[in-house]
Amino acid sequence: MEQTLSIIKPDAVAKNVVGKILDRFESNGLRIAATKKVQLSKADAEAFYAVHAERPFFGELVDFMISGPVVVSVLEGEDAMAKNRDLMGATNPKEAAAGTIRADFAESIDANAVHGSDSLENAAIEIKFFFSDREIC
Ligand code: CMP
Repeated sequence: MEQTLSIIKPDAVAKNVVGKILDRFESNGLRIAATKKVQLSKADAEAFYAVHAERPFFGELVDFMISGPVVVSVLEGEDAMAKNRDLMGATNPKEAAAGTIRADFAESIDANAVHGSDSLENAAIEIKFFFSDREIC
């Protein structure tokens, strides 16, 4: 059993498609072990995406992630990390395969509906960033 972190980003929360996106996870063999809605501060977003601090898009990414609430979840299941990434589709929704979350709900590479951990090592770090042990069950 693996665990991975999902973020439903401000664009998808504003579009009122949180339930539709969570259904994609549950309908594809992932269990929601924890979930909550959070308004990130600038410091939160900068810390969460610190790995991208030197990238030219960092400022826009942080501004976007604090533009409204997000829904963070711990997804659990067999191959949860890779399965979530398959369900999300490519980072750029223009390149995302038909039927993926980003193809169906995202507008642009910034407003791309969801984030998912890209390795098991990062999943553990990202889960700890948002959740205490007793919130995951
Ligand atoms: P995410 O999976 O949340 O990880 C970092 C985010 O940066 C990414 O999704 C995109 O929304 C955003 N981003 C903006 N521009 C780029 C880019 N050129 N390459 C990768 N990610 C980008």
